[in-house]
Amino acid sequence: MTGLSDDRVAHVPVLKDEVLAALNLHDDSLVVDATYGRGGHTRAIMSRLGNGGRILVIDRDPTAINQARQEWSEDARVEIVHAQFSELSKLLEQRHVNGRVTGMLFDFGVSSPQLDDSERGFSFSHDGPLDMRMNPDQGLSAAEWLEQISEAELTNVLRKFGEERFARRIARAIKQHGAVASTGELARLISQAAPATEKGKHPATRTFQAIRIAVNEELDQIKLVLPQASKALATGGRLVIISFHSLEDRLVKRFLRDQSKGDPFPPDLPVTHDMLKPQLKLIGKAIRAGAEEIEKNRRARSAVLRVAEKIS
Ligand SMILES: C[S@@+](CC[C@H](N)C(=O)[O-])C[C@H]1O[C@@H](n2cnc3c(N)ncnc32)[C@H](O)[C@@H]1O
Repeated sequence: MTGLSDDRVAHVPVLKDEVLAALNLHDDSLVVDATYGRGGHTRAIMSRLGNGGRILVIDRDPTAINQARQEWSEDARVEIVHAQFSELSKLLEQRHVNGRVTGMLFDFGVSSPQLDDSERGFSFSHDGPLDMRMNPDQGLSAAEWLEQISEAELTNVLRKFGEERFARRIARAIKQHGAVASTGELARLISQAAPATEKGKHPATRTFQAIRIAVNEELDQIKLVLPQASKALATGGRLVIISFHSLEDRLVKRFLRDQSKGDPFPPDLPVTHDMLKPQLKLIGKAIRAGAEEIEKNRRARSAVLRVAEKIS
């Protein structure tokens, strides 16, 4: 367990001021926080919304949703939905607000309480059952997933989602060992199979990241939601996205670039910028946390914030 009596304080929102500025909030904004977590960003957004404002908060983690219900059930401006964000269009259609959202926030990855609770099985530094599901009621746990995957596929996942140099060695060690029940056991196996070559990093860091991404289909979720997020926005609405590793940020960067260029036409056709129908305009460059924030919150060191505005 976290050991903290109030786990609301256990997740410090990254780039909070930058997110608030990027969302360009007004009293009556209609905001979606698609990754509620422990509500750090939602709380900050709510401090800026008036009585006519509204926020839809989404998380796939039932614990996050329980916390949201405890905190916000009395506030009619907040609607809480337990869902995967890849269901965004459907959720907004049901509420007749698709195309009317003025600010949409994604803060990808896992929350600190998810990492810190050993029972959730996300972390090599807290021994617990090897689970790693953001929604423990959906899909395979990491232990089950490891049992059904082949050595070759596992090698591939560790390379692709963990950019792990020793993918082959680690995959062999895991598959030769057979069933792995706990995070501690997996971390030990990896430490025995691969040397610690990155300063300050546990040799299991990359493997844990890769398995987590695979088990939760994190990159597929992002690929599915980005076009829905763009469609969800009203003209002038802001899309605000925080990524934590290069695989996420690459998807976001490419999507925003493509949407700000518009439809691909053969280069020899005489088409104007307007005819290409770009959907989004990039707002500024990628934003990273400053030294002061990183000093207070280590998670912020890898955060990259990108912002775009809906133009048509
Ligand atoms: C980094 S935390 C968000 C923290 C939050 N901004 C705060 O300040 O407390 C990411 C959250 O997104 C959720 N999440 C990740 N992928 C999701 C998905 N595909 N659908 C819904 N929620 C998701 C996770 O369960 C986690 O609670």
